[in-house]
Parts: sequence; C-alpha cells; structure tokens
Amino acid sequence: MATTTISTQPIPGQKPGTSGLRKKVTIFREPSYLENFVQSIFDSLEGSQGQTLVLGGDGRFHNRVAVQTILKMAAAHGFGRVMVGRGGLFSTPAISCVIRKAGAFGGIVLSASHNPGGPDGDFGIKYNVGNGGPAPEKVTDAIYAKTGTIREYRISDAPDVDLDTIGRYAIENMTIDVIDPVADYAALMQDLFDFDAIRALFARGFTMRFDAMSAIGGPYAKTILEGLLSAPAGTVTHGEPLEDFGGHHPDPNPVNAADLIAHMSGAAAPDFGAASDGDADRNMIVGRDFCVAPSDSLAILAANATLAPGYRDGLVGIARSMPTSTAADRVAAALGIRCYETPTGWKFFGNLLDAGMATLCGEESYGTGSNHIREKDGLWAVLFWLNILAANGKTVDTLVREHWARFGRNYYSRHDYEAIDSAAAAALMEHLRAQLPSLAGRDLDGYTVALADDFEYTDPVDGSVSKQQGVRIVFADGSRIVFRLSGTGTEGATLRLYLERYEADLTKHDIPTQTALADLIAIAGRVADIAARTGRTEPTVVT
Ligand code: G1P
Ligand code: ZN
Repeated sequence: MATTTISTQPIPGQKPGTSGLRKKVTIFREPSYLENFVQSIFDSLEGSQGQTLVLGGDGRFHNRVAVQTILKMAAAHGFGRVMVGRGGLFSTPAISCVIRKAGAFGGIVLSASHNPGGPDGDFGIKYNVGNGGPAPEKVTDAIYAKTGTIREYRISDAPDVDLDTIGRYAIENMTIDVIDPVADYAALMQDLFDFDAIRALFARGFTMRFDAMSAIGGPYAKTILEGLLSAPAGTVTHGEPLEDFGGHHPDPNPVNAADLIAHMSGAAAPDFGAASDGDADRNMIVGRDFCVAPSDSLAILAANATLAPGYRDGLVGIARSMPTSTAADRVAAALGIRCYETPTGWKFFGNLLDAGMATLCGEESYGTGSNHIREKDGLWAVLFWLNILAANGKTVDTLVREHWARFGRNYYSRHDYEAIDSAAAAALMEHLRAQLPSLAGRDLDGYTVALADDFEYTDPVDGSVSKQQGVRIVFADGSRIVFRLSGTGTEGATLRLYLERYEADLTKHDIPTQTALADLIAIAGRVADIAARTGRTEPTVVT
C-alpha cells in the first residue's frame, strides 16, 4: 500500500448549495470530480489528522464507488479512523447520531436527498461537522474556495474494503470500522419515545403504512417499527433500498408519494400513514383521507411534546425556516418560549440547537427535527406522532382539527416552477427586489402590505449574516407570500412560491387549501409576473 499524489485542475461550479454539492451522477463520474471536492473538504479542515470520520450514504447509484474512493483519500490525508455503515449505507439522521455518539471529528454524507437517483439521476456529497450537523456557511465557503485553487489530491492505492461485512479493516495507518448503520440510531429513538406505549398501540390493532420509497429509510423503519415495536410485517412498504429508488422520486409529498396517499383513502385505510425520502431525513404524516401540512406537524409536535419522554420537561424554544408557516409561532407564544426564524436549510438550526436556544426545528419542505441530533429526522417525526397518538388515543385528523380550533389554521401551500431558465429566474427575483421599496403600505387586491423585504438573517449565536434569503411580502392580516430560488436543484432553476393565510374562525377550517389561498396566488402571479417570465401558466408541483 502506498499513497500517491495526483495532479489535478480546479473544476468550476463545485459550490455547495442549500445542502451540500449536488450534481448529476454523470458529472460525479467525470475524472477527478469527486476527488477534487473531497480533497478540498480535507484541505479546509484544521486538526483532522488522526481523528475519526463517519462515512456513508443513502445507497443511491455511485454510493459504493464514492465510499471506496473517500476511504482511500481519508487514509492518504491521515485520518485515524473511519466509521462506515455496512454496505456504505447510513441515513442522514443516523450519520448525525453516530458523529455525536462517537465524538467524531466530522462526517461525510453521500446523498442528493429527495432528488431522483440512478445512472442519470443525481448524486451529492455533504460535509458534517463535529456537532453532527451540516457544515456552516463559513466552512462550505472555505471548501468552495479550495476547489478553485486545487492542484493535486492524495489517495492510497490500497484495494477496496469489504463494506458488506461488519468488522475492522485498515488502509495505510487508518482503521476502518464497518458498523451496523441502524443500531445507534435505534437506541437513541428508544431513549426519546415511549416504546412500550407505541407497542401497546399496535397490539390494540392500530394500523400503519410506512412508505420508505425504496430508499434508505426502509432498514431503519423495518428494524424499529416491525422489529422493536412489533407492528405487523408489511407495515413498511417499499422497504428495500434500491440504487435508483425503483425509478421513483423519493420525495415524501402527496404528489410523489401518490401510492401512499391512495392507500390512505377510504374506510379500510390504515389509521396512520407516513413516508420518508431518499436519505430518510424528511417525513410526511398522513391520516385516513387527511394529509398533515409539514408546518402544522411542527406546531402539533411542539404543542404536544411533553407526551414523549425525551421532551417531558418541555421545550426551550422552536426554530423554523422563514418560508415555513407561522403555525409554530402561535404555539411558542402560548408556551411562552421563543420561535426563531432562520433561512432555508438545516445548517442554520445548528447554532441555536448547540446553544440550547431551541429544542424543536422544522421546515415546510417535510423536514422536522430536534436537539437529539443536528439533522432533520424522518423516522423520529413518525415515532413522535405515534407516541402522541398512543398517549392521547386520538386519530390524526382529530388531533389536527383540535389544534386548529385552539390556535387557528394557517392555510399553506408551496408552488414549485421546476427547471425554468436560470437567467429568467434570476431576472424574476431582480424584478421583485426592485419593487420592494415601493410595496410597503400598498393595497393589493384588498390585502395591505405590512412588510416587503429580502430576508436577511443575523445568527444570534455567532453574529454571521446571511443575505438574500428570499423575498417576502407580509400582509397586515399575517398572510404571506415568499419567493426564493431553490439551492438544491441540478437542472436550470426552480422558483419556489410559498403562500400562507391565517384563519382563526373554526367554521372556515374546511376550505380546500388552494381555494383558501386563491387571492394570494393571483397577487403573487401578478407581482412577480410569473407566467410571462417563466413561460409557465401552472406550477410543476403543488404541495
Ligand atoms: C430544499 C428545501 C429546504 C431543505 C433543502 C434540503 O431546499 O426547500 O427546506 O432544507 O431542500 O433538504 P431548496 O431546494 O429550496 O434550496
Ligand atoms: Zn433528505
């Protein structure tokens, strides 16, 4: 075994987005593409020699090849030990869990989350720091800077490691531990939730359908739901992780998880449905003929948190991304705690969690989590719901309706315009920004604009400032329209339009969401000139 140094050239565009570097698999397979980025990660780390790294991915196409390459580069860099999940697999929340439990220096997550996989699909790589969470912007900026000046990378010529057999291996002076990717995570879930109560719920005949979308959530859900909690075999569907997710788009929303939604309809449907995404950090919660909006899910978990053992002592604070609905703010106000509003992307929650300022966090994009790790966590949210339902005996729809009756309903929807022309998307955002100074105080179809700005966030812990995080138009009645461009897409640009309207009146909680938001949809279309600028009369995806 020997380490070789290979000459290379900077490759343009290796800029991490909302959640790591995501590109088409075809790009990641180009010579040096992965190697350049991995070396740039390693070169931007201080004091990593001899330290422990955790490594694994969601099993999508190219995962195994990338794991073998990274192991050889980690050895050449001088890491002391790498903990890798069997098969090169780890869900994103499980990596976060293992980094924290092992006190590791950091971790590398191989995933493009909810983006499709396969040879023509997407691949991604993300660096997580020692708290278990995604690297903050100052780290990702440093990595990006290194990708612009890189001249060489170092790699061991050792043979591939047997990733499928748990055990201890070595490359150069580096130890490699191939570990069970589920065990530590399952143990943590048992600390947080009342497994006896959930087991008793299933024993009473409560039925559930968990759709793992042929992604990495399957092994975790099977071990925990069907194993530890004795839910009937078959509770977990699409539970075998596949390299191309069976051709599905592993994004748990009512559009992409249509199979689950179909099974949750009618009197014979299970009591409870849930789905997770490609890397198992997202969740969708479904009742019988009833979809729970992610923003509502965060608010409901917050309002009922003390029913779960891990949260018995209450919450110190809640944090939500700016486009996420303000339903959680109302719960925070009732609990007398703060609700922080951060830019989109889980990395912004890290400081708040580390500083003990927030317990629960969530995003409208089907992401929910807490201070138990530093990533969002799909199965955690599902277990939290199960714990609450086991404790209060309610159905999903009763629980949600009672929540609305108490706090009011935040009608909410996101409209995505996918794969639009990048220049047109940038121009649309500029067009919006240009209007900001003149919008405040104006009347738009009977809605008075109270605030119009481009969201800027100052981290209350380290003072770092993030600008241009989304154009928001907030109306006097609390309704909001938010526009931003996706930072995770790999084709053209994606415009996200977020719409929210608050309704306190209980007799008006049954309006179809798009109808309830029709005025705001029309205003947004006009202010941003969406149809003319994107060439689209309809969004690609409505959630
Ligand atoms: C999307 C979601 C965002 C989430 C991210 C990673 O990012 O909107 O909430 O944190 O995926 O899962 P976007 O494509 O909007 O930049
Ligand atoms: Zn994900």
